[in-house]
Amino acid sequence: MGDSRVIEAKDIHKTYDLGDIKVHALKGVSLEIKKGDFVSIMGASGSGKSTFMNIIGCLDKPTKGEYYLDNNQVSSLDTDELAEIRNKKIGFVFQSFNLLARTTAIENVELPMIYNNTDSKKRAERANQAIKMVGLDGREHHLPSQLSGGQQQRVAIARAIVNNPSIILADEPTGNLDSQTSMEIMGIFKALNKEGKTIIMITHEQDIARHAERIVTFKDGYIIEDKVQGN
Ligand SMILES: Nc1ncnc2c1ncn2[C@@H]1O[C@H](COP(=O)(O)OP(=O)(O)OP(=O)(O)O)[C@@H](O)[C@H]1O
Ligand SMILES: [Mg+2]
Repeated sequence: MGDSRVIEAKDIHKTYDLGDIKVHALKGVSLEIKKGDFVSIMGASGSGKSTFMNIIGCLDKPTKGEYYLDNNQVSSLDTDELAEIRNKKIGFVFQSFNLLARTTAIENVELPMIYNNTDSKKRAERANQAIKMVGLDGREHHLPSQLSGGQQQRVAIARAIVNNPSIILADEPTGNLDSQTSMEIMGIFKALNKEGKTIIMITHEQDIARHAERIVTFKDGYIIEDKVQGN
């Protein structure tokens, strides 16, 4: 089967340079994630979780260290190459949904396919499929403001999966949702994981984290714990 590592981060450092102050957000983080894993990332506010996720999501580059995505060294790629890899391999889900406000659910889901020039027939077909997968049929033509928080997050997940990425990165995906809705969203992540997608999810909540097979804990720019759960 070859190498099943989708993510290999080696001694990643990230320093934000604010002129007179330097913030050492990551101080040497190494992590390997295998294809099909479901990993939760926990840790106090400011411990470096989002900084790390931005690097593994190719939204930002490390100051030092090596990062391999599907065995390709990405820390050396330029901005355009990073954007292309990101569009092809990674789907993002955020706490605040990040939907376009004046754009219907289905149009939001079609957006990533407009960026990569998918033809309109295929776009509609795949967007509808993604909308169904997240259980939103009947809400296609609603604007985000006409949807509940949970429904908006479903739209965001449909948008994240529409290019069929192998990896889903979620930064506090249930942070703005009540516990019942959070459980429903976790159900969708679990179903996607069953289909073979690798899921990496930041959360503050133990109840949410326990849905993952593995919990990695950050503190002060380091990983201080990495444990596989027996569930
Ligand atoms: N763009 C930036 N410029 C300067 N400093 C930053 C920047 N982004 C993050 N930081 C700093 O880096 C450190 C890590 O931030 P990060 O956002 O990764 O934390 P986090 O673990 O995601 O926290 P939270 O749980 O609050 O989201 C913090 O001290 C933060 O202030
Ligand atoms: Mg964060």
